[in-house]
Amino acid sequence: MSTYYIGLSVTYHDSALAIISDEGEVLFAEATERYLQNKRALNCEPDQLFRIPKLLVQHCPNPKRVVIAINWRKKRPFYENIVKKLGFLSAPGLLKTGIKKLHSTLKNYQLHHMMACQRSSIDRAGLNLVRILQEYYPDCAIAFKDYDHHLTHAATACYGSAFEEAACAVIDSYGEHGSMAFYRYRNWKLERLHEAKGLSKASLGLYYMKITELCGFDWLKGEEWKVMGLASYGKLNQKLYNLLSSIIVVNGFDCKHPSEAFFELIAKLDEFKQHPDSPIEQMADVAYTGQVFFADLVTQLLNDLHEVTQCDNLTLAGGCALNSTFNGQITQRTRFKQVFIPSAPADDGCALGAAWLAYHEDSPLQQKPPQLQTPYTGSTIKDDAVKRLIRFNRSLAFQHLPDSVCAETARLLADGKLVGWVQGCAEYGPRALGNRSILADPRKAATQDLINEKVKFREMFRPFAPSILHEYADEYFENYHESPYMDKTLHIRKSMQNKIAAVCHVDGTGRLQTVKREWNPRFYDLIEQFYQLTQVPVLLNTSFNIMGKPLVHSLEDALTVFMTTGLDVLVVNDYLITKPREE
Ligand SMILES: [Fe+2]
Repeated sequence: MSTYYIGLSVTYHDSALAIISDEGEVLFAEATERYLQNKRALNCEPDQLFRIPKLLVQHCPNPKRVVIAINWRKKRPFYENIVKKLGFLSAPGLLKTGIKKLHSTLKNYQLHHMMACQRSSIDRAGLNLVRILQEYYPDCAIAFKDYDHHLTHAATACYGSAFEEAACAVIDSYGEHGSMAFYRYRNWKLERLHEAKGLSKASLGLYYMKITELCGFDWLKGEEWKVMGLASYGKLNQKLYNLLSSIIVVNGFDCKHPSEAFFELIAKLDEFKQHPDSPIEQMADVAYTGQVFFADLVTQLLNDLHEVTQCDNLTLAGGCALNSTFNGQITQRTRFKQVFIPSAPADDGCALGAAWLAYHEDSPLQQKPPQLQTPYTGSTIKDDAVKRLIRFNRSLAFQHLPDSVCAETARLLADGKLVGWVQGCAEYGPRALGNRSILADPRKAATQDLINEKVKFREMFRPFAPSILHEYADEYFENYHESPYMDKTLHIRKSMQNKIAAVCHVDGTGRLQTVKREWNPRFYDLIEQFYQLTQVPVLLNTSFNIMGKPLVHSLEDALTVFMTTGLDVLVVNDYLITKPREE
């Protein structure tokens, strides 16, 4: 009997779909934004009507039973009932409640909008999938499961890790009940130790969104990245730090608002609000201080988690697990010795977590040795698409290099060319990990400006990441530990900073991707060939997109970026494509 577990992430942002076989194998996992080419796919279903039939044919042949699992409880949480009854904009009776506190953290209409979208997304969850299954596979049995949002985050982190046992922290913006949850993971089971319940508790996800807003950026566009990049240029603003300390404190496993004067204190934060024309130093100080305060709070939470679990392995998930700056400091600032963060720790990753929970519920005894989950679970671009392009194209030059595509690309990179690199299955999660990447030689600092000016068109303060062969990483990074999904930022050794200047941030750090042959043989080969030519086992790796768009999905998307930017070379599988004339 063929049972398939289809996980859907139905948070209104970052929706995603994942498929697991009845043997527990991940067959497919991808965020909806890729297919739609619509960043974060706000308000879009993960089971897009026109896409589902093809996905089912490709990954779920002859299904006898399909379990649809979603990453949010269908039951309406208490605060939604309150809001529904009283309305957001006229709720004076809620002045002293947690709703009001959360309400004040963001602007009224933003919170109202978020909750309305969330509810509509949950109400629509799986409808398209059920309709298509019934139409195409009328004999297929369909079951439906819904799981606690934070439990699905925890499942993504723990089932995807190589740990047999771990402590797990989910630090998020919000779930059905609150914003954080903590678990003990062993024997393929997740035991909840604590969940922050009630909106009177502070949310570190919402806190970071507020800092993003104070820096003059837009959290709805996911611009928290910019805060981290900018923070490296800043220094501590003690007045802001003191104010933040009066608004949020850690108490055991909870973050709380300690003062009754909460609203007045939140209002005072606006004193630090920056605008696009604010001096960059001032913006950077807000970013730096916000980041330092965040790190101080999470350090306290994690130390508490270690004390309770006495386990040295940590898995981390939720939107706050995307904070690579802090992630790189965890083993130094806490007592945890190993840290695992999945490739998709935010809500797109929950689709896989939900599918895994459903699978393990059905197969509690079917346990395999734990192993690192590959991030390469998304769509492919087939050679046929390239062949069609060759047939009708009248301007580009093509080389088919099945035996030497890595060697030739490495030569071009060493020669200073900017390369769009598309191979195999796309990455699950926000980072380009060598399958949908723009690559460049990391040796010259000027390459940063070149990529910004010719390809990415983004702010100068945002760094580019190094992808490094694991065997050499300790030579280049202090306190090196593996970062398979570009999830940690570490200090580059002083002696190496000039050697890889284009990927060395202003504070001497780099958000590295560890590359091992067994994780991605072709990308490993490419970097190794580059190393043979330059004695540098590192490539500059940035996402294959232009600002404001998701990673490329189809050959047409890749060509659009290639033809409308200063990229010199496009490599798709074994095909190397160049423009008619050099610039
Ligand atoms: Fe979440």
